[in-house]
Amino acid sequence: MCGIVGYLGKNQAQNILLDGLKRLEYRGYDSAGLTVYNGSEFKTLKVKGKVAELAKLLSQQKISGTIGIAHTRWATHGEPSERNAHPHSDCQGEVFVVHNGIVENYKALKQELEKEGHKFSSETDTEVIAHLVEKFIAAGLNLESAVKKSLHLIKGTYALLIMAKIEPDKIIAARLSSPLRIGVGPDQFIIASDPSAILNYTQQLITLDDKEVAVIDQQGYHISALDGNGSVDKEIEKIEWDMTAIEKGGFDHFMLKEIFEQPETVSNSLRGRLIDQQGLAALGGLKEVETELRRIKRINLVACGTAYHACLVGEYMLEEYAGIPTEVCVASEFRYRKPILDPQTDVIIVVSQSGETADTLAAVKEAKEKDVLTLGIVNVIGSTIARETDAGVYNHAGPEIGVASTKVFISQLVVLALLTLFLGRQRQMSLVTGGRIAEELRKIPGYINQILEQNEKISQMAKDYGQFKDFFYLGRKYNFPVALEGALKLKEISYVHSEGIAAGELKHGPLAMIEKDLPSVFICPQDSVYDKNLSNMEEIKARQGKIIAIATSGDTEIAKIADEVIYIPKTLEMLTPMLAVVPLQLFAYHFANQRGLDVDKPRNLAKSVTVE
Ligand code: M6R
Repeated sequence: MCGIVGYLGKNQAQNILLDGLKRLEYRGYDSAGLTVYNGSEFKTLKVKGKVAELAKLLSQQKISGTIGIAHTRWATHGEPSERNAHPHSDCQGEVFVVHNGIVENYKALKQELEKEGHKFSSETDTEVIAHLVEKFIAAGLNLESAVKKSLHLIKGTYALLIMAKIEPDKIIAARLSSPLRIGVGPDQFIIASDPSAILNYTQQLITLDDKEVAVIDQQGYHISALDGNGSVDKEIEKIEWDMTAIEKGGFDHFMLKEIFEQPETVSNSLRGRLIDQQGLAALGGLKEVETELRRIKRINLVACGTAYHACLVGEYMLEEYAGIPTEVCVASEFRYRKPILDPQTDVIIVVSQSGETADTLAAVKEAKEKDVLTLGIVNVIGSTIARETDAGVYNHAGPEIGVASTKVFISQLVVLALLTLFLGRQRQMSLVTGGRIAEELRKIPGYINQILEQNEKISQMAKDYGQFKDFFYLGRKYNFPVALEGALKLKEISYVHSEGIAAGELKHGPLAMIEKDLPSVFICPQDSVYDKNLSNMEEIKARQGKIIAIATSGDTEIAKIADEVIYIPKTLEMLTPMLAVVPLQLFAYHFANQRGLDVDKPRNLAKSVTVE
């Protein structure tokens, strides 16, 4: 995720900005840049790649000056490149902006500004902010008013630092739904999106709240509401945090942090993409292929690991709600299968967090050789798969650092649900059904929060089951892939044998293994296959097998059969995987953590698998 640092004081800004950017590196990024004012002019340096590259550049061409802003970018609009790196500027190079968040209405604003003669030099949403500020300064406003007027036109989220030639000794800071803190004194201000960039210099912090704007200069700071001019009194807090804890947001591991981020991840993946009243999904990345997609008669979903499990859920969604025959294939098998593909009626949709997985990329190449339309559902912007596919949808889940995929799995499910809406509404799906799915998708973040409240209980359960060496995970229909995913989570971080099984397959072999030392995790919400699942649970019970059930809130029946029950809120059947997977992620996390294992970096595995 992007990171922001600003400095204003008596020391050389570049050193403190660089140090701040380095401390934000753990968040993941693809490019970096800074702007410093040296008393007579602004100097900007940007690089694609690491902060170390920026440091190298700075060692060759020192930029002196005691005021500046800096940024690490994680691409959302436009590929990772020097051109798209922040700070962004206006036409004259007199306004400088670093931004975290997304300007949702940037296309409309950009068109308007271009009509007025503004020339854009990047593909980013952020650049519109620099041009808006330029426009209002040209109309006679001072910097603070020009920024405020610009922010009133923006829809979306932001943490912003802005400098400009008109008042070069000031930094303007503003926030809406994206964090920003001001470190105060002595004799200096360090402003950053994350306290880890500040605490080396001061523990006195002010947290900006939504719709607040701060004007900072050598004399001090003034904070006002976006909609007013009077001062807002802010408390200065003393923060005594451990630096490594901060990087992980106070969590012990990135994996746990990422599990807890999931409500926000769902909101980010949905942002600007649901037209609730019309029961539609607006997927900008598919605009160019919208007509081609109307003639599609078969969908082929291809991916590896966790992304493959998301595809299996997608298969149920797309067949049930969009009415399109769908096949799923693991990418490592796809090209060896000699797949029969028809360029007129087939589409290949590959799903990948990293966008670099070798097998998944090979499937894209295979499809292209056969002239078949390829789409990507990818998290990392500008990655190879994102570039090689004809069109696609980004997850917008932010960087995932833990090797075990958690928040990106949920965002893959969200995007597949949006795709189902998109394709379904192109076909026979009614407005009422579309509207119902949209309505329920909006509730998912709140529902996940309710499940996360059971973290302590799940941690205790992981302790209670800590001595077992084998686990079965069972589910049907939409939750069969969740069983596979739960089992994968447990085995990849705890090295304990766990197997995901379609519950209906139990009697065809696995039942032979059931005994008191082999517990089963059963995903059994009150859905269309509930009764069948209950029968399977009885079969396990009859053979002294222990059962942990994931069930719908209020289901008292299940507690009579299962040894443990974790409840999830009721939602549409197609969306239950987004909820049912959360307790399984937490269970795997606590199980491995209690064994003292390196949860974020399990042995033998890599985050991005770029070899076959
Ligand atoms: O980057 P990708 O989504 O293409 O990666 C695919 C798999 O390697 C990945 O999902 C893997 O299974 C995860 N480590 C599972 O947690």
